[in-house]
Amino acid sequence: MLNCVFVHAFMCVCPYLCDYLSPLQQLTGTLAIAVFTAVLGSLQYGYSLGVINAPQKVIEKHYGRSLEVWTERAAVLSENGTDEGEFPEAGDHPSVIMYWSLSVSIFSIGGMLSSFLVGFVGDLRGRVKGMLMVNVLAVAAGLLMGLCRMWKPHFMVIAGRAVMGFYCGLTSGLVPMYIGEISPKAYRGALGTLHQLAIVTGILISQVIGLDFILGNDDMWPLLLGLSGAPAILQSLLLPLCPESPRYLYILLGKEQEARTSLLRLKGAYDPTPDLEEMKSEKEKADREPRVSILSLIRSSVYRQQLVVALMMHFSQQFSGINAIFYYSTDIFTRAGVAQPVYATIGVGVINTIFTLVSVALVDKAGRRTLTLAGLGGMCLCAVAMTVGLKFQSEFLWMSYVSMAAIFLFVSFFEIGPGPIPWFIVAELFSQGPRPAAIALAGCCNWTSNFIIGMTFPYIQEYLGCYVFALFAVLLLGFTVFIYLRVPETKGKSFEEIAGVFRKGRKKANPDDGTELQQLKTSTDA
Ligand code: GLC
Repeated sequence: MLNCVFVHAFMCVCPYLCDYLSPLQQLTGTLAIAVFTAVLGSLQYGYSLGVINAPQKVIEKHYGRSLEVWTERAAVLSENGTDEGEFPEAGDHPSVIMYWSLSVSIFSIGGMLSSFLVGFVGDLRGRVKGMLMVNVLAVAAGLLMGLCRMWKPHFMVIAGRAVMGFYCGLTSGLVPMYIGEISPKAYRGALGTLHQLAIVTGILISQVIGLDFILGNDDMWPLLLGLSGAPAILQSLLLPLCPESPRYLYILLGKEQEARTSLLRLKGAYDPTPDLEEMKSEKEKADREPRVSILSLIRSSVYRQQLVVALMMHFSQQFSGINAIFYYSTDIFTRAGVAQPVYATIGVGVINTIFTLVSVALVDKAGRRTLTLAGLGGMCLCAVAMTVGLKFQSEFLWMSYVSMAAIFLFVSFFEIGPGPIPWFIVAELFSQGPRPAAIALAGCCNWTSNFIIGMTFPYIQEYLGCYVFALFAVLLLGFTVFIYLRVPETKGKSFEEIAGVFRKGRKKANPDDGTELQQLKTSTDA
């Protein structure tokens, strides 16, 4: 009798258990290696973002020496009989300021330019070979910076940062594209978020080893910068073990057998027919769709809704003000009256990493839309709290704690949704045809807005004073409303189903949609 009950209960639970376990079976060792290998590129991006902050003073000193600011210094010293300690720092010299600003900003300029090429590189020989090819850039950049003492350090570092930025612009598109295409539907969000997890880990590593008693000192700083090329070496060794994206093989090259092999390697022993069927129907649509260039993507009204959503997601990530915190946190903490600003900055890096992990766990359950809304809304409230903290810090001492808590929470809310989601949602929003062009365009918007914030924040801060974060609060409110009104949920949907959501919306707005698609194809075929 008891046996019967157990058997009955087991039979009832079994289908649910299978539903729960079957996606888990798709998390194979090969998939893990492929994702790990890919995100080594993201780690390098994060490291390069963060590495330049801590050793600023040390590097400026070397720039000063190489630019012979020191000679001028010595002349004035002997003329005035001034003590060395009373002399302004090398970083105050206009030439040093100019070369330093260029060393920081040229990274984003490199990224802005190369992000346009993501589609081209990804489609040329495939996603895996694309990542392998661009590693040459990372290694070259690492060598330029690591060996910068052999010639004029300022020129070598600027050249290295430019090449590294160029590399990162490519990798920040290729990695999410590859992961988005190889991940099982049920884990696309979590695996996509690993791109951001690797970025924040890279930022944190660079902050820690950039401390002056580790590598951020007079002797070791070239190694600190040069190490940014190291993950590329490991990645190049591992990439040959990674299966090519089955979607690239089947939909783009029409190689069904190779796509099947790749699927079996990625997902283990399972029946790949449903996945191949899904790709087949995508391929049929893709063959009917034009191979969309960046220009035709901008012009076409067919993809307008998806494009607006994708770009707004990236604008909201950057114009949330997150990099104002990352680039200028030490300064912001000092203004907010924090005693140990460098350690507080590392604290931000730790919180950043922890909350990205929270997002990995939540994103496929709570959904992209909910997490983005919660994140942006929370950041908006924190920006208000930061403004209050800065405004009243001279009247009430405890206000510096309010500011500090607000900064930590601001970063936490960012990593729950607005940080990781824009990177992978673009691959989800577009079908195979326009996907590379869309990723390229979104990446370019991201890099450009990042550059604008990096360059203008000090001036905005000067102008608005303690109200600087009120500006971000207003922007964040606007983004929250936009996401609420316009962004659909993509969690658990196939690429086809997501495209269907937008198709429906488009049909409502423009019943003549089919003609436009045909026109787009004719114009591209011509
Ligand atoms: C995202 C942003 C990047 C930012 C980082 C902080 O990856 O794209 O600009 O620095 O998050 O975690």
